[in-house]
Amino acid sequence: MTEAELYSQYKGVYLPNHLHSPESLNHFEEFTFRTDDIIIVTYPKSGTTWTQEIVPLIQNEGDMASVLTLPNWDRVPWLEEKRALELNLDQRPSPRIFASHIHYSMMPKSFYKVKPKVIYVMRNPKDVFTSSFHYHGMVSYLVNPGTVDEFLAKFLSGQVMYGSWFEHVKGWLNAEDQDPCPFLTSCLLPCDLKESVSKIAHFMGKSLSEEVSAKIADHCRFKNMKQNKMSNYSLVPEEIMDQKKSEFLRKGIIGDWKNFFTDAQTECFDAVYEERIKDVKLTFVWDL
Ligand code: A3P
Repeated sequence: MTEAELYSQYKGVYLPNHLHSPESLNHFEEFTFRTDDIIIVTYPKSGTTWTQEIVPLIQNEGDMASVLTLPNWDRVPWLEEKRALELNLDQRPSPRIFASHIHYSMMPKSFYKVKPKVIYVMRNPKDVFTSSFHYHGMVSYLVNPGTVDEFLAKFLSGQVMYGSWFEHVKGWLNAEDQDPCPFLTSCLLPCDLKESVSKIAHFMGKSLSEEVSAKIADHCRFKNMKQNKMSNYSLVPEEIMDQKKSEFLRKGIIGDWKNFFTDAQTECFDAVYEERIKDVKLTFVWDL
Protein backbone atom coordinates (compact mmCIF):
# COMPACT_ATOMS: atom_id res chain seq x y z
CA MET A 1 0.00 0.00 0.00
CA THR A 2 1.12 3.58 -0.63
CA GLU A 3 1.77 6.48 1.76
CA ALA A 4 -1.52 8.04 0.68
CA GLU A 5 -3.41 4.92 1.79
CA LEU A 6 -1.54 4.21 5.03
CA TYR A 7 -0.70 7.67 6.39
CA SER A 8 -2.43 11.00 6.94
CA GLN A 9 -0.73 14.37 7.20
CA TYR A 10 -0.93 16.04 10.60
CA LYS A 11 0.52 19.56 10.69
CA GLY A 12 2.87 18.64 7.84
CA VAL A 13 4.08 15.23 9.07
CA TYR A 14 2.93 11.73 8.18
CA LEU A 15 1.19 9.74 10.93
CA PRO A 16 0.06 6.11 10.43
CA ASN A 17 -3.76 5.82 10.19
CA HIS A 18 -3.67 2.53 12.09
CA LEU A 19 -2.51 4.34 15.24
CA HIS A 20 -4.10 7.78 14.90
CA SER A 21 -7.49 9.21 13.98
CA PRO A 22 -8.97 12.72 13.86
CA GLU A 23 -10.60 11.87 17.24
CA SER A 24 -7.33 10.80 18.86
CA LEU A 25 -5.55 13.90 17.57
CA ASN A 26 -8.37 16.08 18.81
CA HIS A 27 -8.15 14.38 22.22
CA PHE A 28 -4.39 15.05 22.16
CA GLU A 29 -4.88 18.72 21.32
CA GLU A 30 -7.40 19.15 24.13
CA PHE A 31 -5.39 17.15 26.66
CA THR A 32 -4.87 18.79 30.07
CA PHE A 33 -1.45 18.17 31.58
CA ARG A 34 -0.50 18.24 35.24
CA THR A 35 2.81 19.72 36.40
CA ASP A 36 3.95 16.37 37.78
CA ASP A 37 3.22 14.41 34.57
CA ILE A 38 6.27 12.78 33.06
CA ILE A 39 6.34 12.70 29.25
CA ILE A 40 8.78 10.37 27.53
CA VAL A 41 9.38 11.95 24.13
CA THR A 42 11.22 10.15 21.36
CA TYR A 43 11.61 10.01 17.62
CA PRO A 44 10.53 6.41 16.78
CA LYS A 45 13.21 3.71 17.17
CA SER A 46 15.25 5.74 19.65
CA GLY A 47 14.55 3.68 22.78
CA THR A 48 10.89 4.40 23.58
CA THR A 49 10.02 0.87 24.75
CA TRP A 50 13.17 0.73 26.84
CA THR A 51 12.23 3.98 28.60
CA GLN A 52 8.63 2.77 29.02
CA GLU A 53 10.19 -0.02 31.10
CA ILE A 54 12.73 2.04 33.06
CA VAL A 55 10.57 4.98 34.14
CA PRO A 56 7.68 2.99 35.73
CA LEU A 57 10.22 0.80 37.51
CA ILE A 58 11.87 3.89 38.97
CA GLN A 59 8.50 5.36 39.88
CA ASN A 60 7.55 2.10 41.64
CA GLU A 61 10.98 1.78 43.29
CA GLY A 62 11.78 -1.51 41.60
CA ASP A 63 8.35 -3.14 42.03
CA MET A 64 7.93 -5.21 38.86
CA ALA A 65 4.11 -5.53 38.96
CA SER A 66 3.27 -2.91 36.33
CA VAL A 67 5.94 -3.95 33.80
CA LEU A 68 4.99 -7.63 34.14
CA THR A 69 1.21 -7.20 33.91
CA LEU A 70 0.56 -4.18 31.65
CA PRO A 71 1.63 -3.91 28.02
CA ASN A 72 3.93 -0.95 27.46
CA TRP A 73 1.26 0.88 25.40
CA ASP A 74 -1.14 0.87 28.38
CA ARG A 75 1.50 1.31 31.08
CA VAL A 76 2.93 4.41 29.37
CA PRO A 77 0.42 5.31 26.65
CA TRP A 78 1.17 7.49 23.66
CA LEU A 79 -0.95 10.60 24.10
CA GLU A 80 -1.62 11.10 20.41
CA GLU A 81 -2.72 7.54 19.64
CA LYS A 82 -6.22 6.02 19.39
CA ARG A 83 -5.54 3.82 22.40
CA ALA A 84 -5.40 6.95 24.60
CA LEU A 85 -9.15 7.42 23.99
CA GLU A 86 -9.92 4.18 25.83
CA LEU A 87 -7.77 4.61 28.91
CA ASN A 88 -9.42 7.39 30.97
CA LEU A 89 -6.09 9.14 31.30
CA ASP A 90 -7.55 12.00 33.33
CA GLN A 91 -8.54 9.49 36.03
CA ARG A 92 -4.99 8.20 36.48
CA PRO A 93 -3.31 9.10 39.76
CA SER A 94 -0.30 11.42 39.75
CA PRO A 95 2.42 11.25 38.70
CA ARG A 96 1.17 10.01 35.34
CA ILE A 97 3.68 8.71 32.81
CA PHE A 98 3.02 9.18 29.09
CA ALA A 99 4.86 8.81 25.82
CA SER A 100 4.79 10.89 22.65
CA HIS A 101 6.52 10.94 19.27
CA ILE A 102 5.19 14.40 18.46
CA HIS A 103 7.42 17.38 17.57
CA TYR A 104 7.80 20.16 20.15
CA SER A 105 6.03 22.75 17.98
CA MET A 106 2.99 20.46 17.65
CA MET A 107 2.33 19.87 21.36
CA PRO A 108 -1.07 20.76 22.89
CA LYS A 109 -1.72 24.25 24.33
CA SER A 110 -1.84 22.88 27.88
CA PHE A 111 1.68 21.47 27.50
CA TYR A 112 3.29 24.93 27.05
CA LYS A 113 1.22 26.37 29.87
CA VAL A 114 1.63 23.62 32.48
CA LYS A 115 5.21 22.58 31.60
CA PRO A 116 5.20 18.94 32.71
CA LYS A 117 8.47 17.00 33.05
CA VAL A 118 10.00 15.84 29.77
CA ILE A 119 12.46 13.00 29.30
CA TYR A 120 13.74 13.30 25.74
CA VAL A 121 15.47 10.11 24.65
CA MET A 122 17.76 10.19 21.62
CA ARG A 123 19.85 7.68 19.73
CA ASN A 124 22.39 8.20 16.98
CA PRO A 125 20.37 8.62 13.77
CA LYS A 126 22.22 5.97 11.79
CA ASP A 127 21.04 3.34 14.27
CA VAL A 128 17.58 4.94 14.30
CA PHE A 129 17.53 4.59 10.52
CA THR A 130 18.72 0.97 10.59
CA SER A 131 16.17 -0.01 13.22
CA SER A 132 13.43 1.85 11.35
CA PHE A 133 14.25 0.16 8.04
CA HIS A 134 13.76 -3.28 9.62
CA TYR A 135 10.65 -2.11 11.46
CA HIS A 136 9.05 -0.87 8.24
CA GLY A 137 9.66 -4.30 6.75
CA MET A 138 7.72 -6.13 9.49
CA VAL A 139 4.76 -3.86 10.33
CA SER A 140 1.77 -4.11 8.00
CA TYR A 141 0.48 -0.57 8.68
CA LEU A 142 3.72 1.09 7.57
CA VAL A 143 4.86 1.75 4.02
CA ASN A 144 7.26 -0.90 2.76
CA PRO A 145 10.75 0.64 2.98
CA GLY A 146 11.85 -0.41 -0.53
CA THR A 147 15.63 -0.48 -0.98
CA VAL A 148 18.03 1.01 1.57
CA ASP A 149 18.77 3.86 -0.87
CA GLU A 150 15.08 4.58 -1.32
CA PHE A 151 14.39 4.58 2.41
CA LEU A 152 17.50 6.67 3.06
CA ALA A 153 16.28 9.36 0.66
CA LYS A 154 12.91 9.44 2.44
CA PHE A 155 14.44 9.45 5.94
CA LEU A 156 16.88 12.24 5.15
CA SER A 157 14.14 14.40 3.62
CA GLY A 158 11.67 13.68 6.43
CA GLN A 159 9.15 11.86 4.20
CA VAL A 160 8.60 9.18 6.84
CA MET A 161 6.23 8.68 9.77
CA TYR A 162 6.57 11.45 12.37
CA GLY A 163 8.55 13.57 9.90
CA SER A 164 12.18 14.60 9.97
CA TRP A 165 14.53 13.21 12.61
CA PHE A 166 16.56 16.45 12.33
CA GLU A 167 13.56 18.69 12.96
CA HIS A 168 12.37 16.49 15.84
CA VAL A 169 15.70 16.60 17.65
CA LYS A 170 16.36 20.27 16.96
CA GLY A 171 12.85 21.28 18.01
CA TRP A 172 13.02 19.45 21.32
CA LEU A 173 16.60 20.49 22.12
CA ASN A 174 15.86 24.15 21.37
CA ALA A 175 12.81 23.87 23.62
CA GLU A 176 15.16 23.19 26.49
CA ASP A 177 16.59 26.72 26.06
CA GLN A 178 13.39 28.53 25.07
CA ASP A 179 11.02 27.07 27.54
CA PRO A 180 12.07 26.27 31.06
CA CYS A 181 10.03 23.08 31.51
CA PRO A 182 11.87 20.43 33.56
CA PHE A 183 13.79 18.65 30.83
CA LEU A 184 16.18 15.71 30.75
CA THR A 185 17.97 14.59 27.61
CA SER A 186 19.14 11.03 27.65
CA CYS A 187 20.84 8.58 25.29
CA LEU A 188 20.44 5.06 26.61
CA LEU A 189 23.48 2.85 26.23
CA PRO A 190 23.49 -0.87 27.03
CA CYS A 191 26.90 -0.52 28.72
CA ASP A 192 25.99 2.19 31.24
CA LEU A 193 22.39 1.38 31.99
CA LYS A 194 22.82 1.72 35.74
CA GLU A 195 24.11 5.26 35.24
CA SER A 196 21.09 6.10 33.07
CA VAL A 197 18.74 4.67 35.69
CA SER A 198 20.38 6.86 38.37
CA LYS A 199 20.24 9.96 36.14
CA ILE A 200 16.56 9.46 35.31
CA ALA A 201 15.72 8.67 38.96
CA HIS A 202 17.44 11.87 40.08
CA PHE A 203 15.43 13.85 37.51
CA MET A 204 12.23 12.24 38.76
CA GLY A 205 13.12 13.15 42.34
CA LYS A 206 13.38 9.49 43.38
CA SER A 207 16.14 8.34 45.61
CA LEU A 208 16.88 4.67 44.96
CA SER A 209 19.22 2.39 46.83
CA GLU A 210 22.17 0.90 44.93
CA GLU A 211 20.42 -2.44 45.10
CA VAL A 212 17.17 -1.17 43.53
CA SER A 213 19.03 0.74 40.77
CA ALA A 214 20.99 -2.40 39.97
CA LYS A 215 17.81 -4.51 39.93
CA ILE A 216 16.10 -2.09 37.51
CA ALA A 217 19.15 -1.92 35.24
CA ASP A 218 19.37 -5.69 35.19
CA HIS A 219 15.70 -6.16 34.34
CA CYS A 220 16.06 -3.61 31.51
CA ARG A 221 19.01 -5.32 29.83
CA PHE A 222 18.17 -6.31 26.27
CA LYS A 223 18.19 -10.06 26.83
CA ASN A 224 15.94 -9.76 29.87
CA MET A 225 13.51 -7.26 28.38
CA LYS A 226 13.23 -9.44 25.30
CA GLN A 227 11.65 -12.12 27.52
CA ASN A 228 8.97 -9.76 28.85
CA LYS A 229 5.85 -10.36 26.77
CA MET A 230 4.42 -7.06 28.07
CA SER A 231 7.26 -5.24 26.30
CA ASN A 232 8.42 -7.37 23.38
CA TYR A 233 5.28 -6.82 21.25
CA SER A 234 4.54 -10.56 21.09
CA LEU A 235 0.95 -9.65 22.11
CA VAL A 236 0.48 -7.97 18.70
CA PRO A 237 -0.99 -10.35 16.09
CA GLU A 238 1.40 -11.59 13.42
CA GLU A 239 -0.63 -10.04 10.60
CA ILE A 240 0.13 -6.62 12.11
CA MET A 241 3.71 -7.23 13.28
CA ASP A 242 5.49 -10.14 11.70
CA GLN A 243 8.35 -10.83 14.09
CA LYS A 244 9.48 -13.73 11.89
CA LYS A 245 10.65 -11.08 9.43
CA SER A 246 12.38 -8.98 12.11
CA GLU A 247 11.94 -8.96 15.86
CA PHE A 248 10.73 -5.79 17.60
CA LEU A 249 13.57 -6.08 20.09
CA ARG A 250 15.89 -6.78 17.21
CA LYS A 251 19.54 -6.33 18.23
CA GLY A 252 19.60 -3.60 20.88
CA ILE A 253 23.14 -2.50 20.09
CA ILE A 254 24.92 0.72 19.24
CA GLY A 255 26.67 0.78 15.87
CA ASP A 256 24.61 -1.77 13.94
CA TRP A 257 24.50 0.78 11.09
CA LYS A 258 28.12 -0.22 10.36
CA ASN A 259 26.90 -3.69 9.33
CA PHE A 260 24.25 -2.13 7.13
CA PHE A 261 25.45 1.03 5.35
CA THR A 262 27.68 0.98 2.29
CA ASP A 263 30.48 3.57 2.17
CA ALA A 264 28.41 5.62 -0.28
CA GLN A 265 25.38 5.56 2.05
CA THR A 266 27.56 6.60 5.00
CA GLU A 267 28.96 9.51 2.96
CA CYS A 268 25.50 10.60 1.90
CA PHE A 269 24.20 10.39 5.49
CA ASP A 270 27.21 12.27 6.89
CA ALA A 271 26.88 15.11 4.39
CA VAL A 272 23.23 15.71 5.25
CA TYR A 273 23.89 15.28 8.99
CA GLU A 274 26.72 17.86 8.96
CA GLU A 275 24.58 20.35 7.09
CA ARG A 276 21.36 19.89 9.08
CA ILE A 277 22.83 19.63 12.57
CA LYS A 278 25.70 22.13 12.36
CA ASP A 279 23.99 24.71 14.57
CA VAL A 280 23.27 22.18 17.37
CA LYS A 281 25.81 20.82 19.84
CA LEU A 282 25.23 17.06 19.80
CA THR A 283 27.59 14.28 20.73
CA PHE A 284 26.29 10.83 19.96
CA VAL A 285 27.86 7.48 20.62
CA TRP A 286 28.04 6.06 17.10
CA ASP A 287 29.77 2.81 17.91
CA LEU A 288 30.88 0.84 20.96
P1 A3P B 1 17.07 -2.26 17.18
O1 A3P B 1 16.05 -2.39 16.10
O2 A3P B 1 18.31 -1.56 16.70
O3 A3P B 1 17.37 -3.52 17.90
P2 A3P B 1 11.59 2.10 20.03
O4 A3P B 1 11.17 1.42 21.28
O5 A3P B 1 11.77 3.58 20.16
O6 A3P B 1 10.73 1.70 18.87
O7 A3P B 1 13.07 1.59 19.69
C1 A3P B 1 13.30 0.23 19.37
C2 A3P B 1 14.80 -0.01 19.42
O8 A3P B 1 15.24 0.02 20.79
C3 A3P B 1 15.16 -1.39 18.87
O9 A3P B 1 16.46 -1.23 18.27
C4 A3P B 1 15.20 -2.20 20.15
O10 A3P B 1 15.90 -3.42 20.07
C5 A3P B 1 15.90 -1.21 21.08
N1 A3P B 1 15.72 -1.60 22.49
C6 A3P B 1 14.56 -1.79 23.15
N2 A3P B 1 14.80 -2.22 24.41
C7 A3P B 1 16.14 -2.30 24.54
C8 A3P B 1 17.00 -2.70 25.61
N3 A3P B 1 16.54 -3.11 26.78
N4 A3P B 1 18.34 -2.65 25.38
C9 A3P B 1 18.83 -2.24 24.19
N5 A3P B 1 18.05 -1.85 23.13
C10 A3P B 1 16.72 -1.89 23.32
